[in-house]
Amino acid sequence: MDYETILFEKDGAIATVTINRPKVLNALNRATLEDLDRCFQAIADDPAIRVVILTGAGEKSFVAGADIAYMQHLNPLQAREFATLGQKVMNAIEQLDRPVIAAVNGFALGGGCELALACDIRIAGENARFGQPEVGLGVIPGFAGTQRLPRLIGKGYACELLFSGDIIDAGEAARIGLVNRTVPREQLMSSCREMAGRIAARGPIAVRLCKDAVNNGIEMDLGRACRYEADLFAMCFSSPQQQEGMKAFTEKRPPLFDSD
Ligand code: HXC
Repeated sequence: MDYETILFEKDGAIATVTINRPKVLNALNRATLEDLDRCFQAIADDPAIRVVILTGAGEKSFVAGADIAYMQHLNPLQAREFATLGQKVMNAIEQLDRPVIAAVNGFALGGGCELALACDIRIAGENARFGQPEVGLGVIPGFAGTQRLPRLIGKGYACELLFSGDIIDAGEAARIGLVNRTVPREQLMSSCREMAGRIAARGPIAVRLCKDAVNNGIEMDLGRACRYEADLFAMCFSSPQQQEGMKAFTEKRPPLFDSD
């Protein structure tokens, strides 16, 4: 499929989506959000893909935010519509039934930080910078940053970043749990591919159900969430992948998980 503002590559079970507007540090305009929307729909429809890596083109930026030039002249109605479109894309990434790893290769600001937050795992190059600088532009985050940031790093750190608009480096982002880890810039993509490969070798149904349990369970009270987990655990037992995984263990060999 052809996209105007993103690149899509598939290597076996691993897909890589690259936001490709390096001249404006991969800022998200309408076209980019629409491309991402279509791309993640296509990924959802392709069961051969087991893990997705999301990154930005160029050396400097993951995504430096929503496109300020585009947003500058929006009226309130158009602003709401733009926020809703962005939220739809972030939700599609979060709800995709396969893991998405953000390979943060530079600035992840505003909508870029929100995009990284919608992913399941964030790996940052040492040059990465994070922040929600919207208040400096006289607006608030609109792609769910006020919601996902406190859920991920806790209310205190989230409020500090949201109210101050401060930009933090990769080390600080790792310290507060905003990223899983930092790696040398030149090792970023290989580290992400290596992690994606390890995930892709696990039972695909089990990995999907893990993501489902985490994302849906987190919104429930503990009792309901535990019952939900037990339901999904039981569901694994109607899959040949459970048979294969446990049989391989008893036969002391690696499991072979076919695509479901
Ligand atoms: C549009 C952007 C952009 C953005 C950078 N550019 N960020 N264009 N929207 N978010 C453009 C610049 O205008 C410039 O274009 C080119 O990219 C290179 O950027 P420079 O500023 O020259 O680079 P540098 O000096 O290295 O500074 C990098 C930077 C700075 C610190 C990341 O660009 C910056 O502060 N960008 C804005 C970050 C931001 O505020 N993001 C949040 C946006 S609000 P030219 O043509 O001059 O070369 C948001 C809301 C989300 O995301 C919710 C919406 C509903």
